[in-house]
Amino acid sequence: MIQAPVIAGNWKLNHGPSETVRFFQDFLPRLEPASAGSVVICPPSLSLAAAVEALAGRSDLLLGVQNVYWEDDGAFTGEISPAMARDAGAALAIVGHSERRQLFGETDEQAARKVRATIDAGLAAVFCVGETIEQRDAGSAFASVEAQFSTVAKLLDDADAPHLVLAYEPVWAIGSGRTATPGDASEMHAFIRDLLRTALPSADFSVPILYGGSVKPENAGELLGAPGVDGLLIGGASLDPAGFAEICRLRG
Ligand code: PGA
Repeated sequence: MIQAPVIAGNWKLNHGPSETVRFFQDFLPRLEPASAGSVVICPPSLSLAAAVEALAGRSDLLLGVQNVYWEDDGAFTGEISPAMARDAGAALAIVGHSERRQLFGETDEQAARKVRATIDAGLAAVFCVGETIEQRDAGSAFASVEAQFSTVAKLLDDADAPHLVLAYEPVWAIGSGRTATPGDASEMHAFIRDLLRTALPSADFSVPILYGGSVKPENAGELLGAPGVDGLLIGGASLDPAGFAEICRLRG
């Protein structure tokens, strides 16, 4: 089970196997194991084996993949299954990231199937929700997040809660340098917590809700300290060993 506070790095399409080895050589001495919280790194799937080898002896650090398909195996060129990811050393999978939705046309229904398959394979699913700037400006940020969440929630029940993490990532804050204020984050996290409470009534408090979008060492403490924020999902700033270790030390 993933324990809050969660600091998760999403490397996106960065750091192949050799760069992954170099990253961990630099990063690991900077971060002492801690009993509190969880640190997760999601390299490209091709770098997972290098990451597993680099992390031998560091069971305090978890690895994940950035996407999965919902089938276990078969004629699905280019895809990886949650079971394969688990076999390769992943503890979780990010699902429904806005780049998957916007650049690769992933729908809420597909994301829902991926979350279901991820949990069924024994991995935790980090399911991402978040509104675009157009939706925020039109006053529909909450409705958009609710629509994304409810499609997935239809396929979940209370027993899934220990294997679920949610990430609120306003699309306008991803890679843009524009961060939600701690107040914006708290407001949406409270809303998502209410959605969880309704969907999974006996399990809601065990599901961490992470904030993501232009998190950096300079703003990470303030965002992690915002009420309702149980962790951070970090893209660009997770590529820098020193900066990411600094953020990870906030877990406690
Ligand atoms: P960013 O990405 O930290 O580079 O904004 C966050 C994410 O996409 O998960």
